[in-house]
Amino acid sequence: MPHIRLARGIDHNDIRDIYLRAFPEGECKLIARLALSLLSEESNPETIGLVAEADGRVVGHVAFSPVTTDGPSHWLGYILAPLAVKPEYQKGGIGSALIRSGIEQLSIRGVDAFFVYGDPEYYGRFGFTAEAAGRFLPPYELQYPFGWQAMVMHETVSNGQTVKLSCVASLREPALW
Ligand SMILES: CC(C)(COP(=O)(O)OP(=O)(O)OC[C@H]1O[C@@H](n2cnc3c(N)ncnc32)[C@H](O)[C@@H]1OP(=O)(O)O)[C@@H](O)C(=O)NCCC(=O)NCCS
Repeated sequence: MPHIRLARGIDHNDIRDIYLRAFPEGECKLIARLALSLLSEESNPETIGLVAEADGRVVGHVAFSPVTTDGPSHWLGYILAPLAVKPEYQKGGIGSALIRSGIEQLSIRGVDAFFVYGDPEYYGRFGFTAEAAGRFLPPYELQYPFGWQAMVMHETVSNGQTVKLSCVASLREPALW
């Protein structure tokens, strides 16, 4: 199994390399820039990055950043973005280990809901559903609305009302959505 640890500043080049290689040409630079920006994102509560090490190298990365609502101030949500594993290390459980580790660590802190914008076929296996995301409006209009998913841990946003989410500065880029 890969070794999962918190990402640090010294992982900068490895993280950039993962995204440049894992994502297609047209979007890899945008996503690499997002990953690096989140590495130094100063949010409260904190943005966390995790890296996976295998064969003594950093081969996978994920970031989780907080999202807020204009509803109850004690509500705590996090969005998983971005995620990538070096091509030659894919399909070995590293992506799953990164996701599960992040969710486990953040759940201990009382996170009420996790969000992700990605392929439902992949994220569905971790418990994310489009249905759970239904009453949370993403910060920007989505290019692929079917990719908007959530996993609600605690039902705390009141009365089933629709709430609009705000995200950290690194994610405030319409092209990412
Ligand atoms: C998505 C990604 C992070 C998964 O990492 P990984 O280490 O290969 O994941 P795991 O080994 O835990 O899981 C692999 C499984 O997910 C499946 N999978 C990977 N990407 C998928 C996708 N987009 N849709 C559906 N299934 C997918 C694989 O086919 C494999 O299935 P299997 O277990 O039945 O063989 C990796 O494929 C990657 O970096 N892809 C390019 C970047 C990307 O798409 N990131 C996610 C953006 S939302």
